[in-house]
Amino acid sequence: MTNVNTLDLTKLHAPLGAEICGLDLTAQLPKPTVGAILSAWYKHQVLVFRDQKLSPQQLVDFTTQLGEPGRPRMPSQAVRDIIPDLPPEIMIVSNVRVDGKPLGLAHDGEMWFHSDMCYAEVPHIATLLYAVDLPSSGGNTKFANMYAAYENLPSEIREKLRSKKALQVHDYKRTERPGVDLDLSKIGNYAHPVFVTHPETEKKALYVNRLMTARIEDLERDESDALLEQLFSVGEDPDIIYEHVWQSGDLVMWDNRCVTHARTDFPHEERRLLQRTTLVGTEAPR
Ligand code: SIN
Repeated sequence: MTNVNTLDLTKLHAPLGAEICGLDLTAQLPKPTVGAILSAWYKHQVLVFRDQKLSPQQLVDFTTQLGEPGRPRMPSQAVRDIIPDLPPEIMIVSNVRVDGKPLGLAHDGEMWFHSDMCYAEVPHIATLLYAVDLPSSGGNTKFANMYAAYENLPSEIREKLRSKKALQVHDYKRTERPGVDLDLSKIGNYAHPVFVTHPETEKKALYVNRLMTARIEDLERDESDALLEQLFSVGEDPDIIYEHVWQSGDLVMWDNRCVTHARTDFPHEERRLLQRTTLVGTEAPR
């Protein structure tokens, strides 16, 4: 990179996403470069940085250059035993088990489309995932462009759901719709608009997903279920999806306000371990 204001950026052959080359993310980046990364992220929704060599602290330091990192729940004892100096901003996403106990969260196999922390009042706006150990096949992460999903909806559905909210929940499933008899006192939940406006781009995005959206408020159950099914199928249309095939050293960063993501299955006996940070949000989706 010759100019701190410009990036060596290639748009992916996909409906969203761009790859940025020539940056060493262990370095303290000039402010204009950080600004250029954020602008590219608003525009392309998913950014891919290949061939990085980041320690856990360097991942946190890079995240901190972009904004305020989120704090995940306290890592398990197994994680703290294996990585004693793991910074509190990092969450391990892994199927690896030690003495039968999973090292990380969101560990095994396939995971349906969702938006990180959509069940919180103020969800984290960005997720950054850094690949450390990968299986020989599968475990790809799919990203769906929720601006395109909104644009692709029939206008009568956009009109009908214009001011509706949907209940988002976190009941720790990976490939199951939220149950009908959820005890909301025991799980994270929040009702957000079905359509949200991105505060930076002012574009509208569909904000429901198959894994975490339980129902559309103020509608009968049957109608809510039928409409959600329609929204999910538009939101999971292969034409609006980029599927990332991970390489060790990849850092991928996405915008939870306009992107949902899912994971493909992978051999359960093979190790998959990624380190995750987030950027906190400052306002509820509107
Ligand atoms: C996640 O959904 O947080 C994990 C994504 C992945 O493991 O690829």
